[in-house]
Amino acid sequence: MLPTLVSTRLHLSQAADADFDSLSAIWSHPDVRHFLFADRPVPRDHVSVFLGSGNAEEDERLGTWVVRFRGDPEIVGSASLIRASSSARFEPRLAGLVEPTLAIDPSKQRHRVGVDTLTLLADYAFGPLRQLQLAATVDAPNEPAIRFTERFGFALLSTVPGPIHQLRTYTLSQAAYAQRSDGRAA
Ligand SMILES: CC(C)(COP(=O)(O)OP(=O)(O)OC[C@H]1O[C@@H](n2cnc3c(N)ncnc32)[C@H](O)[C@@H]1OP(=O)(O)O)[C@@H](O)C(=O)NCCC(=O)NCCS
Repeated sequence: MLPTLVSTRLHLSQAADADFDSLSAIWSHPDVRHFLFADRPVPRDHVSVFLGSGNAEEDERLGTWVVRFRGDPEIVGSASLIRASSSARFEPRLAGLVEPTLAIDPSKQRHRVGVDTLTLLADYAFGPLRQLQLAATVDAPNEPAIRFTERFGFALLSTVPGPIHQLRTYTLSQAAYAQRSDGRAA
């Protein structure tokens, strides 16, 4: 069971099967689907990975949350923390690290939902999960996500051939995150 993560603005709770339609609408948007799902539809029976039910026992505190504004039932995004096993096939130095992946409703983007969400995930990963380093991977043409990831403080590790595009890989250390002067309000 994932903990509920709350900030002054946002409420993140464990994603459930009942959230599939809302999440599917966000994930099906061309800008999201192109980079997160290689332009393929997201079938209901494949969603378990994103809902965390595919995690090994050791990863039971990893999975997918739905993002809402506090007090508002509308789902405005998804936020996952999973082992970077897939990414490590392309950049072995990411093996064993935990990787966040966000998908914010395109109509809600550029309003700092992403940075507030990632701050909640990073606080959880570096806090209760005691991670020392987080991984991130972004397709090279995904310029909004590159700027978002780098602005958050992730440091470029490598650019490697990915499944479709060149893949930019990143890490963020606990020490670097703790030193961010704007850690909670970037
Ligand atoms: C990447 C993503 C999560 C950013 O979410 P968001 O809520 O729009 O991001 P924020 O509003 O918190 O933006 C924070 C900063 O990121 C950068 N950024 C975000 N979106 C950007 C865009 N479209 N173009 C340029 N910079 C962008 C900016 O520096 C921005 O700060 P600013 O608005 O003060 O300039 C969102 O665009 C998304 O869901 N994309 C589709 C899925 C995806 O590619 N996920 C991979 C990332 S894990």
